[in-house]
Formats: sequence, C-alpha cells, structure tokens
Amino acid sequence: MKSVVLAHEVDWAGWRAAARALALSDAAPDDVVWSVRNVSDLFAEPEDEAIAAPPGGFTVPRALVTLAETVIQARDPERFALLYRLIWRAHRGEKHILEMTTDPEVQRAQRLAQAVRRDTHKMRAFVRFREVTEPEGTRYVSWFEPEHYIVEANAPFFARRFATMIWSILTPYRSAHWDGEALRFDVGASPSEVPDDDRLEAYWRAYYSSIFNPARLKVGAMRAEMPQKYWRNLPEAAAIPELIRTASGRVDSMVEQPVFSDPRPSRIVAPPAAEHGSPLHEAAREAADCRRCPLWEPATQVVFGEGSPNARVMMIGEQPGDQEDLAGRPFVGPAGQLLDRAMQEAGLDRQTVYVTNAVKHFKFVPRGKRRIHEKPGTGEINACRFWLDLERATIKPALTVMMGATAARAVLGRAVAITRERGQPMPLPDGKGGNTTGFITVHPSYLLRVPDEDAKAREYAAFVADLRRIVELAA
Ligand code: URA
Repeated sequence: MKSVVLAHEVDWAGWRAAARALALSDAAPDDVVWSVRNVSDLFAEPEDEAIAAPPGGFTVPRALVTLAETVIQARDPERFALLYRLIWRAHRGEKHILEMTTDPEVQRAQRLAQAVRRDTHKMRAFVRFREVTEPEGTRYVSWFEPEHYIVEANAPFFARRFATMIWSILTPYRSAHWDGEALRFDVGASPSEVPDDDRLEAYWRAYYSSIFNPARLKVGAMRAEMPQKYWRNLPEAAAIPELIRTASGRVDSMVEQPVFSDPRPSRIVAPPAAEHGSPLHEAAREAADCRRCPLWEPATQVVFGEGSPNARVMMIGEQPGDQEDLAGRPFVGPAGQLLDRAMQEAGLDRQTVYVTNAVKHFKFVPRGKRRIHEKPGTGEINACRFWLDLERATIKPALTVMMGATAARAVLGRAVAITRERGQPMPLPDGKGGNTTGFITVHPSYLLRVPDEDAKAREYAAFVADLRRIVELAA
C-alpha cells in the first residue's frame, strides 16, 4: 500500500507529481491511499518525502488534465483517488476515456467538475466587498462560503477584475489577499463565527490582526503549493520579490483598523430560469460554461436571454452591460429601464416577449474601479451566434427585433446602417425553408447618449413608434 499525503486540499502540483510517479511505477489505484496533511498553517513546511518518478514517458490526454484541474477543487474526499484511477487507465491505454460517457468513473468526475463550475459562477457573481478605511488607503473585505475548494483557482479572476483595489476574500477554509500587486493565501476564517454583513467589520479586526501578518510569508511554500498555471499566468507574480523585501516593514503598519460600506451594487436579482429541463434552460446551463471566445474570462457570468418560451416577439440587444453582468439578466440596467418604459408606452408587455443579446458576456475595459463597456467585435459576434441561433430556433418568434448594429449584424450576417434600414419589416429565413419577419430599430442606449434634450425626446418618441409598429406586426 502506498500513501500520498498532499499539502492541502487543492495541492494540484503535489497530486500531479504523485499521480505521474505512481502511474509510471504501475501502482494500481486500489493500492494507493490519498490524504491531505492536517495543518492549520497553510505555509507550514512540507514534511513528507515526494514519491520519486521512475524514468519513462508519461502522456495523458490534455482534456483529462483539464478535467482533473477542475475536479481537484471538489469537496469530495474521494476525488484524488478517482482522478488517479482515470489517469492510470488513460496511461494504460484507454486514451479516449473521456469519450466513454456512460463509464461510471467518467460520469462521476464530470458531475464533480460541473459542481465546481457552478460554485465558481456563484463566487464570481455573489462575492460582495465591504469598504474598510485604513491609514494607507481603502481595503475591501468580503465573506463568502463556497461549497468547494475554489478560492485558489478564482482569486486570480478577482485580482484581474479588481486590480486597483486592495481586497481580502475570507472563506471558511481559505482566505485570499490582494495587495494591488500580488496574491497571498492564508488559512480560512472561523466558520463558527460566520460574519454576516453587520458583524464583518468586527470579525475582520480580529482576523486581520491575528492572521494577516506578512511576517508569516513563506513564498517558496506558497509558490510550490499553488497550481503552476496560476503563477505562470500572473503578471503580478513578478512583484513577489518586492513584496518579500517590504514584508517585515509592513508588519507594524498592518494593525490599523477599518470601517465598511459596499463599493458595488448589492442588488442581485435571481435569474428567472426558463422552465427546468426545457431546451432553453438546458441551453442557458451549457452557455454558462461557454468558451467560444475569450469574453467569458473577465466577465462575472453569462447573461442568457429570458422571457416567454412562446414569445411572438424576440428583442435582441448588443451585449450585457455592467449591471446585467452582475445580475445575470439582460436589460436590467439604465438601457433596460428605458426599454421597459418605452415598451410600456407602446403596449408591449415584457412578460410576453423574449429578450436577449447578440453577445452573452460583458465586454469591458477596466478603468480604476469602473468597467467601461467596449463594443463586441465581429469575431465575438460570430462566436456567440451559436447561442442566438439556438434561441431563435427554439423560440421561433414571428417577429425578430434587432436593436442596433450589433444585433443586426448578428442576425443578418452583414454590416447594417441603422438609419437607412430602420423600421422596414424584412423577411428572415426561419431555418426551415420558410420566412419570419425581421425588424430593425435603434438600441436603447443610443437614446441615453443623445446629448440634446429636444433631440432626445424626438428620438425616444420615434423608438416608441417603432415598438408600436412591432405590436401591430406581431398581432
Ligand atoms: N445593452 C444591451 O445591449 N443589452 C443589455 O442587456 C443591456 C444593455
């Protein structure tokens, strides 16, 4: 019997090295016992001897490695053994193991990966920071309870998203700290004293002075224990030497205390899911993991369409904005509120239509603490057309309304001059040899941008007139 003791719950480097060495020495999965070192200090020096890998080639499918990187974050004590079993089988010749979709071990790993991905989406959508004023500036603190061990893998996302903020995310098993230059991990916060919003400040004071202490920094261990790819991909890793150099000097100054408020909108609206198990519900679930273009990465979550599955009218916008990205729903921010008002005036009930976007992830450039909308490019529109086509084929609306140039490009596959083609019903292929009707109008954010008040009122009236026309055409 061989025993592998991993350094911590997501010791990817340790698991991978051990799995490779074990597979090369042909250790049967049933002869290996996996466990995690029971430490309260994440940066304690490892005591165990590494398993030496005999010489020899070791290749497993890339997709299996990717799956393992996700599954290792699952809160399931059997995951290390399960993953080793899959690796061992692949190494012994089952190269297409992941294609065996009815294989119970493959199914179990896929289920765990899905649970981790869901938890990841939740963390990205629901972490909320409270503001702390300190002598050196402002710090943001958040309390979050993930179901799985996802903090390490997701901290780089928050570092990119809130690059200019100094923040800490506390969870029961691990805390992540970003000082504007580098990420640092430490032990978790106490689950028995779960700090709700009101108690977070007091909790942070205690945690901060007892735990967040740069003198404890052991960068060698930290680097070794973090999945390689996170360090490799982090430009801020280059700042570590400076962090170490200044660590001792920072110890004294880090005991000052905070005051809180919320820097981000706290209103989170749960997406009204399409009926469970319906094709749209399934599509929205799949889209949550979409990697068809790079926009998924900095975005909080996918924003799929929503509305009546029997809608006669489908309204297509450009892409989610900042508020839609946080809420996970289309058209809930300023443009959405204007759209709601205009629809109401035109007698078009939002409950009876289906509202979606040409591109399902928010594209933005960070500027300070703000995220500035960036227009999606043709590549992103084309990549996302898969989902739009799927929505159109499922809803089969009698009328497809393209609001603005991006929506028109996504539907018609060509550049459209809105002012020239606006307001003219056009035949649209329905994908089954027949036709439906297309209708182009302006995007509601265009109305928000018109600087002159008179012109704004005129443009708004013209938009409402377009919507009235839509009501007639769809009747
Ligand atoms: N603009 C859009 O095009 N879609 C939204 O969902 C919000 C703003």
